[in-house]
Amino acid sequence: MIEIVKTDITTLDVDAIVNAANNSLLGGGGVDGAIHQAAGPGLLEACLLLGGCDTGDAKITPGFNLPSRHVIHTVGPIWQGGQHDEPALLESAYLRSFEVALENGIDSIAFPAISTGVYGYPKRQAAEIALTVMQEFENDFKRIVVACFSQSDAELYKAIADKRASN
Ligand code: APR
Repeated sequence: MIEIVKTDITTLDVDAIVNAANNSLLGGGGVDGAIHQAAGPGLLEACLLLGGCDTGDAKITPGFNLPSRHVIHTVGPIWQGGQHDEPALLESAYLRSFEVALENGIDSIAFPAISTGVYGYPKRQAAEIALTVMQEFENDFKRIVVACFSQSDAELYKAIADKRASN
């Protein structure tokens, strides 16, 4: 079951929320900043032990003060025009997040729109990639939540999902 909702991902009571981090895993702005703010200092301490994260990879920590038990930190590509493996790297960020979730017995997971903020990835193209990978894993999880920060993002995802459902 894939749910598309407009929400602040830090409020979701799921097994894991996915963080759109950077390679250092030392926090930042956007959803990364919100997650660290809500989780508290323990999250940064746990991230310091991970030794960073490659673009397209994913690593897991506890959720600390968040309602979600875990945080899966992934790093999406910075958009550079589309000729630098961005689509493959974005797909890998979603794929590796799902793989790490399955390795840790996670049954409900929420994603932000990875790379579409500071990293500048075009929203529609990113949503197409995200939904394709989510549909591949749909039967492996009780809940997959697309946590859109804006109403327009949620409507974009819903339009794409509806178009696929009608095909
Ligand atoms: N809940 C859900 N989604 C959120 C939240 C939130 N609390 N805050 C922001 N977002 C959304 C943004 O609106 C955007 O749609 O998350 C999406 C990803 O945007 P960014 O957070 O800017 O992440 P990204 O584009 O992947 O850039 C990553 O930004 O914050 C830094 O440290 C981070 O360097 C890394 C870079």
